[in-house]
Amino acid sequence: MSRAVCPGSFDPIHNGHIEIISRAARLFDDVIVAVSTNYAKKYRFDTEERMDFCTRSLAHLPNVRMLPLGDGLLADFCAEHGANALVKGLRSGLDFDYELPMSTMNRHLADVDTVFLPTATEFAHVSSSLLKEVASLGGDIGPFVPDVVRERLVQRD
Ligand code: PNS
Repeated sequence: MSRAVCPGSFDPIHNGHIEIISRAARLFDDVIVAVSTNYAKKYRFDTEERMDFCTRSLAHLPNVRMLPLGDGLLADFCAEHGANALVKGLRSGLDFDYELPMSTMNRHLADVDTVFLPTATEFAHVSSSLLKEVASLGGDIGPFVPDVVRERLVQRD
């Protein structure tokens, strides 16, 4: 059985992530969405809420499940869960430049390969941080996030 990991902060998950994870679910038998829980990093949403957004947004994909990544190496997480592939979306050459050294390091650490999927053009300009900024200033983010995320992002807290 083929198994891949889709790692990320998912703070929050958006439609660009969902499109990539859906394609990963067609390529692999089992897909683990590994939600980063790096204690040194400041997230807008806590782990429980980011996991919940992912679970509710990906419920239509039966071979996709969510797990917290924890505070260790992604390569160790892959080895522990028997995954020999990572799947990541690439929005641009900038993403590639950022991702390439990590993909080589992950292969060195745990012989895990990274499969890069080009992001769909309609989501190539979308990032969680941009969506948070636009939502906080009252802009329309509806086309880029699931309803559960939009409702939460437009709340002022
Ligand atoms: O959505 P993000 O914030 O770009 O996701 C980043 C993530 C979680 C994929 C990255 O920070 C990561 O791989 N963290 C695990 C720590 C690790 O293994 N670092 C070494 C990478 S070679």
